[in-house]
Amino acid sequence: MENFKFHVSTDIRFGKDRLGELPEVIKTYGQRVLLVYGGGSIKKNGLYDEVMTRLNEATCEVFELSGVEPNPRVETVQRGIDLCKEHKIEVILAVGGGSTIDCSKAVAAGFYSDKKAWDLVLERRSFNGPALPIVTILTLAATGSEMNVGAVISNMQTNQKLGMGGPSTLPKVSFLDPQNTFTVPKIQTAAGSADILSHLFESYFNLTPGTDVQDGISEGLMKSVIKNCPIALETPDDYDARANLMWASSLALNGLTGSGKKGVWSCHAMEHELSAFYDITHGIGLAIITPRWMLHVLNEDTAPKFARFAKEVWGITETVPEIAASLAIQKTYDYFKACGIPMTLPEVGISDESKFAEMAKQAVAQSAIATQAFVPLSEEDVVAIYQASMTESSYV
Ligand code: NZQ
Ligand code: ZN
Repeated sequence: MENFKFHVSTDIRFGKDRLGELPEVIKTYGQRVLLVYGGGSIKKNGLYDEVMTRLNEATCEVFELSGVEPNPRVETVQRGIDLCKEHKIEVILAVGGGSTIDCSKAVAAGFYSDKKAWDLVLERRSFNGPALPIVTILTLAATGSEMNVGAVISNMQTNQKLGMGGPSTLPKVSFLDPQNTFTVPKIQTAAGSADILSHLFESYFNLTPGTDVQDGISEGLMKSVIKNCPIALETPDDYDARANLMWASSLALNGLTGSGKKGVWSCHAMEHELSAFYDITHGIGLAIITPRWMLHVLNEDTAPKFARFAKEVWGITETVPEIAASLAIQKTYDYFKACGIPMTLPEVGISDESKFAEMAKQAVAQSAIATQAFVPLSEEDVVAIYQASMTESSYV
């Protein structure tokens, strides 16, 4: 196991009907609030009204940044920064999924900076400046943004989707009420679950030896997601299914399973290019790419880890590692499909290969997948994985 620092100070308020605590939480940081939300789901399901009631109780002065897009745009971040500066905002309240929270983080960082929003994003993970305090009310189990420092922002002009963030962009308090995810549509429930699984896979398939704790926790979380996503799809208001997905979302990407390992993520680097060029849903892009990537990187060296995955996560009893691995890849593919995820690129509107070379170039340039991935990936490898994602696949 590698050395690591693990300091995740987000105060989690998990469970039913805890917004009575919101006034006190907000008042800790200030009275002038920027309320950030997406395209209107919180108005439809009543959460907006409830939040406003609580903010009024706290006699807050509320300003709004609404309409944050899935794959949040840099222009929206800039709009938020301008609002914060104009109204001397003291605390940001993000109510939504990962896009809303990510946008809020970049806005929070921009408040103290003279830079334009995109220049700030270009600081990537070396961002180390101050940020406004962020409180979140999560409405979709997926990204883990509620309990990590990362913010992923899109620039559709340059076809770039990049992650930034540093210690100050970690949310101070996150309200995790599973009931707030009852209205998440089926496809977003499935996409969010695929994203959680991908966060676990990305750290699990890693060559660092001696990480039994991280791998064991990951396997437990994977099994919880695999069990509970179909229940939430069938019964959207099943509290325990939503609760398990929600807590898995936070734990899958708060450093718990990734710390102590070296290396970089592969599928996210490839998926971010799909989103940047075609604006597709992150979790769906990941579900499409993941089984193709698994097959592409399956070799003599990696087969034992895939065989462990087959046994521990999918309960596969086959003892020949390569065969067990293929069975596990097939199970993963079939699972995503059974959750209703379109499993080829043409099904999400990517019907030709014309941009694959450019996307592969960017994927390699914007990450260290060519040198530090589980299995290093060249531009040619990335193109091959995109190509394999064009048609239905079978792995056994
Ligand atoms: O915008 P509204 O109207 O709220 O609707 C949203 C949106 O259309 C809807 N939704 C959310 N909660 C709902 C709901 N609809 C009904 N009821 C609810 N309770 O769901 C749609 C998707 O929302 P979005 O926030 O985009 O989804 P998600 O949480 O999956 O976030 C995706 C973004 O996060 C980034 C992704 O790349 C993508 O840009 N990521 C962020 C990470 C991080 N910060 O650590 C890591 C991830 O790997 C990922 O890259
Ligand atoms: Zn993700």
